[in-house]
Amino acid sequence: MGQSDGKLDGKLEGKVAIVTGAGRGIGKAIAKVYAREGAKVVLASRTQANIDKVVDEIKAEGNVALGIATDVGKKADIFSMVAKTVEAFGPVDILVNNAQGFGTEKNPRASTIPTPLEDTDDEEWDYTFRTGASATLWGMQAVFPYMKERGGRIINFSSGSGLEGFPGNTCYNATKEAIRALTRTAAREWGKYGISVNTVNPSLKTEAWDNWAANNTEFVEGLKEKMPLGFLGDAEEHGGPWLVWLASTGGDYITGMTFFLNGGRYMN
Ligand SMILES: NC(=O)c1ccc[n+]([C@@H]2O[C@H](COP(=O)([O-])OP(=O)(O)OC[C@H]3O[C@@H](n4cnc5c(N)ncnc54)[C@H](OP(=O)(O)O)[C@@H]3O)[C@@H](O)[C@H]2O)c1
Repeated sequence: MGQSDGKLDGKLEGKVAIVTGAGRGIGKAIAKVYAREGAKVVLASRTQANIDKVVDEIKAEGNVALGIATDVGKKADIFSMVAKTVEAFGPVDILVNNAQGFGTEKNPRASTIPTPLEDTDDEEWDYTFRTGASATLWGMQAVFPYMKERGGRIINFSSGSGLEGFPGNTCYNATKEAIRALTRTAAREWGKYGISVNTVNPSLKTEAWDNWAANNTEFVEGLKEKMPLGFLGDAEEHGGPWLVWLASTGGDYITGMTFFLNGGRYMN
C-alpha cells in the first residue's frame, strides 16, 4: 500500500502516540502516517481549528485521532494533555516532541529572522527555550510514569542549524542543541526501562521551511546541489516511513542518537 492510502502495515497497531505541533508540517505528516500504521494518535498544538482539520482527515481515512489544544510553552498544558491522552486512549507508548515556537510570546513568528548574536533579544531567547528545550523536557517528564512501566519511544526534533551554528539563529541553535543533550541524558537514564530516546534533524518542505528560505535566499540557492539525493523531501512521503521505523522496531536497539533526515545534506 502507498503512503496516501488509509491503512499501512499495522507497525504501530495498539500503540498510543502523542505528536506535538501536529497542526501542519512535519507533525501533521507524522500524525497521519502513525494513524495509518494503527496507532491512536493525539495531536497537540495551539490552534484548535488546525488540529481539528487534521483529525478529520485522519478519521476520514478510517483511523483514530484526537486533537487537544496545547501550548507546549506551558508546562501545565503539557501535563494536562498527557493526562487527557491516557484517559482517552490509555498509557502513552510514543511521544514525538516536534513543536517549536519562534519569535516571542507576544509576537510569534513562522520561523527565525536572521539576527546577529550580539543583538539577541532576551524575550526571544526565553520563548524559544520555553517552547523548545523546556517543552521537550516537560513532555518527557509527563510521559515517563507510563513509559517506565512498559517501555516507550521518544523522538525529539533538533536542527542542522544548531549543529552547524548557522549564523543569525542564536536562540534556535542553542535550544535545538540543548534538546540533543536532553535526548542523550534521557537515553542513558531510561534505557533500563526499555525507553529509547532519539533526535531527528530534518530538512523537509514545510511552511516553516518556506518562511525561513525566504529570509535566507543565499543558503537556499544551490541547496539541491548540496544534497546528494538532489531534492528537498516531502514530510509524509520521505519522512513518514523512517519515523514509523524509529517509533517501532528501529528503537529496539538504538538510543541517544541524532539522525539526519535530509537527503544527505549533512553526513557524519
Ligand atoms: N522543516 C524543516 O526542514 C526543519 C528543519 C530543521 C528543524 N525542523 C524542526 O522540525 C519541527 C517541525 O518543523 P515544521 O517545519 O513542521 O514546523 P511548522 O511547519 O512551523 O509547524 C509547527 C507546528 O508546531 C505548532 N506550534 C508552534 N508553536 C507551538 C506551541 N507553543 N505549542 C504547541 N504547538 C506549537 C504549530 O501549530 P500552532 O501554531 O497552531 O501551535 C504547527 O502545528 C520543529 O521542531 C522544527 O524546528 C524542521
